[in-house]
Amino acid sequence: MTASERNASVISLDRVTKTFDKRIVGLRDVTFTVPPGEFCVLLGSSGAGKSTLLRHISGLHKPTSGKVSVLGTDVETARERTLRSLRRHIGFIFQQFNLVGQLSVLENVCSGALGRLRGPRLGLLAYSSRLRREALQHLDRVGLPDQAFQRADTLSGGQQQRVAIARALMQRPAILLADEPVASLDPDSAKMVMGLLQDIVREQRMTLVSSLHQLDLALSCADRIIGLQRGAIVLDTPACLMNADTVMEVYNNGSPEPMTLQAPTRLGSPG
Ligand SMILES: Nc1ncnc2c1ncn2[C@@H]1O[C@H](COP(=O)(O)OP(=O)(O)OP(=O)(O)O)[C@@H](O)[C@H]1O
Ligand SMILES: [Mg+2]
Repeated sequence: MTASERNASVISLDRVTKTFDKRIVGLRDVTFTVPPGEFCVLLGSSGAGKSTLLRHISGLHKPTSGKVSVLGTDVETARERTLRSLRRHIGFIFQQFNLVGQLSVLENVCSGALGRLRGPRLGLLAYSSRLRREALQHLDRVGLPDQAFQRADTLSGGQQQRVAIARALMQRPAILLADEPVASLDPDSAKMVMGLLQDIVREQRMTLVSSLHQLDLALSCADRIIGLQRGAIVLDTPACLMNADTVMEVYNNGSPEPMTLQAPTRLGSPG
């Protein structure tokens, strides 16, 4: 990887290998860079290393060897304080949304600003009116302006994931990481949430790296697809150059393990 490639990227992994307990391979010699504004999808069967890769980008894991640099910070050598500051610029979206169910939608969204506030906040009124207005704007953006004062656990799964996106936006992140963000949703909600993420990253020129199992969504939303198998990159290509057959071909070519991504035909049907 050249120095100019590294400098132009917001995320850069250089020959990263991660071994757990000295024997389980999480990542194997992974090298790639992500330029600002790119929507990058990680594909791969269960255990391929998608979550491990995302955790390296967020600084939760350190590589066994190789180098991870995110927003100019070398994740391995950074002190805990620097890593905390880095994580403030990285929004994380989870499969299970991770909202506080008994709190209002608006308070959940406001809590996304905690990283830039001093001390904890208890109750909606503990947030300034400026922050509450900002949170309402994000709720408006994700299409939930009328649900602000509803308990979060009364929303549907798709709505809860949209609240989680609004909460991540409160961080004003430069990077969004999403680990299987639509795995718990029905196909229509999944399409809606991925489309929303796609629009938001384009509007705000954010960088998004998301793991997905749904091949058709990856092909329709992503700028780039990175395919992992047993911790190694086996595919790295612009999404527009791929179709479902070519992706499956790469995966199944000579592999003893059949690919277990969800096939497009299954997802295309209304659920
Ligand atoms: N903390 C850990 N300790 C030991 N092994 C781990 C740890 N985290 C991940 N692994 C191993 O690393 C490999 C990659 O796991 P990872 O969770 O990244 O896969 P994944 O692609 O996210 O799978 P899934 O689609 O099921 O979420 C697996 O073999 C897993 O068992
Ligand atoms: Mg995972």
